[in-house]
Amino acid sequence: MKAVRLLEYGGQLVVNEVPTPTIARDEILVKVKSTAVNHLDLVKASGKARQILPIDLPWIPGHEFSGVVEQIGSGIAGYAISDAVFGANETGGGYAEYLAVKPAAIVKKPSYLSFEKAASVPVAAQTAWQGIFTHGHLEKGQTILIHGGAGAVGAYAVQLASHAGATVIATASAVDEAYLNSIGASRVIDYQKARFEDVLREKVDVVFDLIGGDIQKRSFLVLKEGGHLVSAVQPVSQEEAAKHRVSGAMMRLEPSADVLGRIARLLEEGTIRPDVATVYALQDAAQAWKDITGNLPGVHGMSPAPGAERRMSHGKIVLRVDA
Ligand SMILES: NC(=O)c1ccc[n+]([C@@H]2O[C@H](COP(=O)([O-])OP(=O)(O)OC[C@H]3O[C@@H](n4cnc5c(N)ncnc54)[C@H](OP(=O)(O)O)[C@@H]3O)[C@@H](O)[C@H]2O)c1
Repeated sequence: MKAVRLLEYGGQLVVNEVPTPTIARDEILVKVKSTAVNHLDLVKASGKARQILPIDLPWIPGHEFSGVVEQIGSGIAGYAISDAVFGANETGGGYAEYLAVKPAAIVKKPSYLSFEKAASVPVAAQTAWQGIFTHGHLEKGQTILIHGGAGAVGAYAVQLASHAGATVIATASAVDEAYLNSIGASRVIDYQKARFEDVLREKVDVVFDLIGGDIQKRSFLVLKEGGHLVSAVQPVSQEEAAKHRVSGAMMRLEPSADVLGRIARLLEEGTIRPDVATVYALQDAAQAWKDITGNLPGVHGMSPAPGAERRMSHGKIVLRVDA
């Protein structure tokens, strides 16, 4: 099969012919239609976080994907050949024509959703869900502040929190205000013009931090006692959390068929919507990686590539594997 691989830490992506995976009795072989690009791919490939995010080289990136069921392990029920599915896994492998997955990593794809859009959902939407509900314990009637609300994860967090009946405040660039209002934010704070802690009139129940650094530190100032600071980008100081009488946690996505199934239902009923910024062919993955290095807030040890343009449109970069 055709696959895009990384042969060494910090190396270039190359297109190779590699053996198609064989499946165990508890696995499904998915013929991949689309996959999406995540910061995580680049962080792992750089080797800078290899102590906590190791990869086996050569490595096929791609933590989320959509496709059709090609083969089913003998121990699996509930799927049929040709079922359209989408999902996420922790080890990658989506930048290839075939991928072997456990059924817990996938759910059936909403029929109205294209394979390209479906591939853009699992990582960002599940991160948002687990960040605000599993770790942030957000409830109806509460207020949440989402840092980086216009990004891929942030936009799902805004939509999910708003649907759950919370008041949503997001920090973002001014240019994203109308977009964020249209998906459920009641207030947008332009992070380039104002310090959120200076302009917020009331304290919030939950902060979801998708930026890190100083933004995270200053977030303690706006949390109610008993509130929750959840970061998807860097550890939260337990000392500061105790001082402010709040909880603080860094989360890491744990792909879950249960959570993705709930997300699929919200997509199906049109409650949340996916956004795709750009679609590339699989063999152009290296160019897609150049694009995303323009938008790397809070990614440990990484900075935009020299000359990289900041991406101004919303949504994810998708790779079309099988047109
Ligand atoms: N822990 C996990 O399991 C997990 C899972 C998924 C993602 N993540 C991490 O979550 C982070 C966000 O991912 P993403 O895919 O949503 O990123 P993204 O799509 O690139 O979005 C980043 C957003 O942050 C905005 N931004 C930049 N600086 C800001 C600031 N100081 N204040 C407010 N907004 C700011 C950007 O807006 P402008 O372009 O206008 O500046 C952009 O809209 C990344 O660091 C990623 O690695 C973690």
